[in-house]
Amino acid sequence: MPGERCLASYRRCVAEIILKGKKTMPQEPQGTDSETIKKAVERHYAAIARGEIKSCCDTAKAAPENLYNIATQTPGYNAQERAALPAGADLGLGCGDPTADADLAPGQTVLDLGSGAGVDCFLAARRVGPMGQVIGVDMTDAMLEKARANAERGGFTNVEFRKGEIENLPVESGTVDRIISNCVINLAPNKARVFAEAFRVLKPGGQISVSDIVSFGDVPASIRTDLEQWAGCVAGALDREEYLRVIRRAGFSSVSVLKDVAYDYLRGRDYGFASVTVRAVK
Ligand SMILES: C[S@@+](CC[C@H](N)C(=O)[O-])C[C@H]1O[C@@H](n2cnc3c(N)ncnc32)[C@H](O)[C@@H]1O
Repeated sequence: MPGERCLASYRRCVAEIILKGKKTMPQEPQGTDSETIKKAVERHYAAIARGEIKSCCDTAKAAPENLYNIATQTPGYNAQERAALPAGADLGLGCGDPTADADLAPGQTVLDLGSGAGVDCFLAARRVGPMGQVIGVDMTDAMLEKARANAERGGFTNVEFRKGEIENLPVESGTVDRIISNCVINLAPNKARVFAEAFRVLKPGGQISVSDIVSFGDVPASIRTDLEQWAGCVAGALDREEYLRVIRRAGFSSVSVLKDVAYDYLRGRDYGFASVTVRAVK
């Protein structure tokens, strides 16, 4: 009985609901399932912000043979960029450098989806200058606190952090020039909703530049069904082609993959995960 299995294993139950009807692709769970995932993600990143765990993939329960770390294999920031950041802004949670490919210019309004401790917001703030504005949105209070403290320490007057979910952005329609996001959208249960919201808030001609984790091949259900691996940016990763389709379906055009780097952990004979940077235009 499905109900008995749920009682026997809370995590497997969540995963079974997620995977109902599809064996190896993350679904867009509805209602409480989606909420369960979000709560797990929020708990995970609150613990990182408080320093209780070190990286998005560093969980106490990870068995040695299962250890993986996105941060150490990720195409990241150059040394000069890093040196200019407030200490503690880069928690090693990203999987790319989306501001580098975001075509930023002075005076623009930039929105960062899932801003964490603020690293990409601060990089963007330097590029858009004092006449520009950067808005970071994150759902985790402890992250927002950290980001705001970092902004104050770094003297950033053109950066603001707002609490909210990237599926329901606390941003007015048609007001943003550029959207960036670094290793966040894979965590959202409903990616179509995230890209629809991104499309809504962008001005016509505005661009999104997103670094994220995607999967390829037939990822085993044992990975897909692990809630910790969802919070670790793996289980919720969409198949690469589906990811691009979701962006196009949201209304974006000129969708192009600028970077595509496969990871060597959690890699099977016929499946794996990659960091991609994708740019698209409204
Ligand atoms: C892997 S971290 C990346 C943080 C940051 N972009 C960086 O590169 O350092 C994911 C962040 O996204 C936030 N997040 C995850 N899902 C979210 C959602 N649905 N809405 C808003 N924030 C979310 C988490 O709280 C966390 O701060």
